[in-house]
Amino acid sequence: MQKILFVASEAMPFAATGGLGDVLGSLPTAIANAAEGNADVRVVMPYYGTMSQEWKDRCETAVEFYVDLSWRKQYCGVKKLEKDGVTYYFIDNEYYFNRKTLYGEFDDGERFAFFSLAAIEMMRHIDFYPDVLHAHDWQSALSVVYLKLKYSHIAEYSAIKTLFTIHNIEYQGKYDPYLLGGLFGLSNDAISIMEYGGCANLMKGAIVLSDKVSTVSPRYSEEIKGEEYSHGLHHILNAEADKLCGILNGIDYDYYNPVSDNAIASKFSWRSLAKKAINKKALQEEIGLDPRDDVPMLAIISRLVAHKGIDIVRECIYNVIENTEVQLVILGKGDAEYERFFCELQDRYPNRVKALMAYDRNLAKRIYAACDIFVMPSKSEPCGLSQMIASRYGAIPVIRETGGLYDSIKPYEERSSGISGNGFTFADYRADALEGALRAAISLWYDTAKREKLVGRIMRTDFSWKKSALTYLRLYESL
Ligand code: GLC
Repeated sequence: MQKILFVASEAMPFAATGGLGDVLGSLPTAIANAAEGNADVRVVMPYYGTMSQEWKDRCETAVEFYVDLSWRKQYCGVKKLEKDGVTYYFIDNEYYFNRKTLYGEFDDGERFAFFSLAAIEMMRHIDFYPDVLHAHDWQSALSVVYLKLKYSHIAEYSAIKTLFTIHNIEYQGKYDPYLLGGLFGLSNDAISIMEYGGCANLMKGAIVLSDKVSTVSPRYSEEIKGEEYSHGLHHILNAEADKLCGILNGIDYDYYNPVSDNAIASKFSWRSLAKKAINKKALQEEIGLDPRDDVPMLAIISRLVAHKGIDIVRECIYNVIENTEVQLVILGKGDAEYERFFCELQDRYPNRVKALMAYDRNLAKRIYAACDIFVMPSKSEPCGLSQMIASRYGAIPVIRETGGLYDSIKPYEERSSGISGNGFTFADYRADALEGALRAAISLWYDTAKREKLVGRIMRTDFSWKKSALTYLRLYESL
């Protein structure tokens, strides 16, 4: 029986701010299923004040102890619940985690150092020592560091292997090296391991100390070895290249399923595409767009930040709207300048453009189910889940060929033997390249026979966790 412990700062449905939470909400169960009873899969995450009461009520207290974080002695309660074949532990400390948001607090470094150390300490209190500790992103990076630097003299701990997964290299957890001792409670030998570019870099520490490092798509694992994508860490990743690999994420096929989804107006499958049109009509009514079924609806569902490619959208979207009859729906929050831009666009074309500056998972589903073309021109994209969700709900993805977008969406081609590909793609990060791909998708949409053939193919593309969960299992075994 393989014992796996995931250490992460978020997991659906308990707490999530983005793709990381989606992955941690579905991968552990997928791994338990793929192992067919031969894996004991557990997850540890913070017990956030924002977690819904329903889940809090389902938790029981497993153990309580104190954690020595540098000179501080902090209370740690461990709550526990079981869900879909996985045991979830929640690290409870009101002072650190009973806040209004998950991240962005002045003391995030201290909060996640406490979380990481508590996750390691927890093992001896619940008497569960995993074979593999699987840590995710900078918030959990210190769990690897503590395990290897502070606990390796204890037999049970020294046997634990580690996998560190990078979901986004942009956020590394960089602190003043002075804090290594005073705040994180690490000794001097940690400095040479963690120090990078004048900072104590938590992600670097985990990369160097982990037995294996993975990213969330094969392409991204190559990209981050180069300066353009590495946010400064390419030297380290090249030095550690032999332990680096990429495994493509999947999506939760039960949660995202147009055949059984109660959040959408009309359930449908690739065999009943006419019902997708009902979703389009319902959304047009809901958000106040012209009730037209004879023009394609484009959608963007994204954080509105630069690396999602919003600036090239801004450059070309007026052209597209002026020269075609498309409708456009944008759902997401982000940088003020982008929010303002989309609101102005809506003011100018009130019956054709809707700018919904919100984070709303059910509304997102209604948009996926309604739209015809899904736009995701990211400058960088470690994996990206939206293009997979859009595909599942029968929207044609238009993507830039980067990271997981490159690995999941291949260009549509017509051949004598039939069609290939599952979307429209472009390589250069330029507005005219995006516009070209959008126009190609729009013109295909008007050809009903071709459109239905492509959409059917897209909806049947396998973005479930099945294959990747097995790849993770093999990786754990290799450790
Ligand atoms: C991060 C990445 C995104 C990826 C997600 C889950 O949010 O930016 O590309 O899909 O993590 O791994």
